Amino acid sequence: METKILPVTEESVALAKKLLLGGELVAMPTETVYGLGANGFDPEAVKKIYAVKGRPTDNPLIAHVHPRYELDKLVYIENDYALKLKEAFMPGPLTMVFYSKGLVCKEAVCGGDTLAVRMPSHAGARKFLAAVDVPVVAPSANLSKHVSPVTAAHVYEDLGGKIPLILDGGRCSGGIESTVLDVTERVPRILRAGLITREMIASVAGDCVVAQHKEGDKIRSPGVKYGHYMPRCDTARFAAGDEKAAAALYDKSVAEGRRALILCETRARASFGGRNAVSLGGNAEEMAANLFSALREGEKAADLIIAVEPEGSGGVYDGVLNRLCKAVGKYGEGERR
Ligand code: TXA
Ligand code: MG
Repeated sequence: METKILPVTEESVALAKKLLLGGELVAMPTETVYGLGANGFDPEAVKKIYAVKGRPTDNPLIAHVHPRYELDKLVYIENDYALKLKEAFMPGPLTMVFYSKGLVCKEAVCGGDTLAVRMPSHAGARKFLAAVDVPVVAPSANLSKHVSPVTAAHVYEDLGGKIPLILDGGRCSGGIESTVLDVTERVPRILRAGLITREMIASVAGDCVVAQHKEGDKIRSPGVKYGHYMPRCDTARFAAGDEKAAAALYDKSVAEGRRALILCETRARASFGGRNAVSLGGNAEEMAANLFSALREGEKAADLIIAVEPEGSGGVYDGVLNRLCKAVGKYGEGERR
């Protein structure tokens, strides 16, 4: 199948609407990463998402709606703090998990009783979602396990030939996926860290906890147990402060004739002298914005990506570190592939 890449215009949105309501998949920009959308009311369309991505069928999808969509058509809003969070952070990079009213098809929620809902703030996403006026269920628009896409070209690399249309809304400004927050209980609980931080949520909701996933737990956010964000080359990760060890691995690899690339924060860049080292940024937001494109460029240019963890922690650093740790295996703890 031919995959069109079109900028977001009235005509392309009309085509996207026709395709989506006709049961096809459409890739759309958001302010976090690109999503691969299907009509959440159409079980056959939703099944295509799992097939095209190679996604495990027990990993549910996020339903995306425009800002004027009434959430209580889709979900039970049982806690008042969820309304306050909606006021404060929607539209934006926050996904809230509610008990579902069952309208979005069971294929999208893998038979579960909850539904994750997000209202993107990206202008292109909003135009498309307003035009279709149905919940668009969408995972990140990459092949399962691969690095999430932050440009239309990234989507094409993974899904070109498999879907009819990619709406091109430019580079995603946020760069890591939305914060996933369980709001079904008395205290909101972060299932996946992102740009809306624990501190920001607690300041509005009064409190916020972070889910701890332990071996044998009933997993509430199934996605966390799968391989994710992995570049197609060898990888090694070092703690902040271990720049010497990272440089030694780089030198050894280059001496063996391998192309190596170091990814680090701006502060650490100077420790690597003339080596091929790229700064991801000087703070957590910059690192989030650059991480996935650096991994995608890195897998093409290098045989080994060596990442050094940022020194900071808390806030958006939690989301950056979470993605980095899944993308890049800790050095010495076994090969990733
Ligand atoms: O920023 C984002 O969230 C992007 C854009 C496209 O919106 N989407 C995204 O989707 O990252 P995906 O499918 O790659 O990740 C969704 C995460 C997974 O970890 C999944 O397990 C979790 O959200 N999730 C979805 N529905 C859930 C539910 N009902 N309960 C708990 N976790 C859920
Ligand atoms: Mg994903």
